[in-house]
Amino acid sequence: MSSAPGFDYPALLGLLGATAARFDVDHLPECDSTNSELLRRAANGGPSGLVVICDRQHAGRGRRGRHWLSAPGDSLTFSLLWRRPERQDLSGLSLVVGLAVAQALEALEVTGIGLKWPNDIWRENAKLGGILIETASGGESLVIGIGLNLRENPGWTHDAGRAVTSIEASGHLIAREAVLASVLLRLAATLDQFSMLGFPPFREDWNRRDAFAGKPVELSGDRERIEGICRGVGDEGALRLETASGLISFNAGDLSLRIRTETH
Ligand code: ATP
Ligand code: BTN
Repeated sequence: MSSAPGFDYPALLGLLGATAARFDVDHLPECDSTNSELLRRAANGGPSGLVVICDRQHAGRGRRGRHWLSAPGDSLTFSLLWRRPERQDLSGLSLVVGLAVAQALEALEVTGIGLKWPNDIWRENAKLGGILIETASGGESLVIGIGLNLRENPGWTHDAGRAVTSIEASGHLIAREAVLASVLLRLAATLDQFSMLGFPPFREDWNRRDAFAGKPVELSGDRERIEGICRGVGDEGALRLETASGLISFNAGDLSLRIRTETH
């Protein structure tokens, strides 16, 4: 592990215990995006388990070219390189990563955590974090990027355009080393199980935390928009919507899910 001021490696190592051997954590004061940084390192042979955590991302990314807002001291932004087992079916991966993050926060006694399909961490109707998974080395490696709000920053609510929340809003301000350790511990176990069994064993736990369960929603892609009632996810992690033409399943792709507020 390399060192840089402002990041407490001994605390992280202590919290990770024996699991520390599975990760190589590199702290950077700044970078463009931890996902972009790890994609470059993956192309140069970076090992599975490499983690890049950064204080200040200049070009943090969300899905579909959207921006991810963060600020030193207010955010935990990091990415993990995972070289997956051959022929691993990736259906549901972003959901199991979200579930691992939710369970990691619950282990730190952060209450009210929900999951919004496919890649958001919610708390009480607002977004607390997001996950961006990208492939490297022709699909053999995955970069799993996670952004969590530790503390609210006044700039975010306005810029994000929608409700934003943080871990602190749940009543605790938790050190980022503790949040990172909890997420890495849970991710190690989750990725092991996912490699062997895929999404089915996680389905029930994900559905229990579904922030939109039973709610009227609209699902939109580039050209289409469909309305329905959220009925959780199936065995492959596909979203199930009860629509006027029956129950339909949707795979993540580039779809956006929103609560339906107006009637059409
Ligand atoms: P959907 O998943 O339905 O498309 P989304 O708006 O959550 O919705 P994503 O691409 O998953 O889309 O996430 C990126 C979005 O997250 C940004 O467009 C912005 O609205 C919001 N966002 C950016 N930074 C933050 C942050 N720190 N906290 C909460 N939300 C943020
Ligand atoms: C989303 O909700 O769209 C996903 C947001 C993912 C943000 C994290 S922050 C760490 C990593 N680096 C990035 O540029 N993006 C992810």
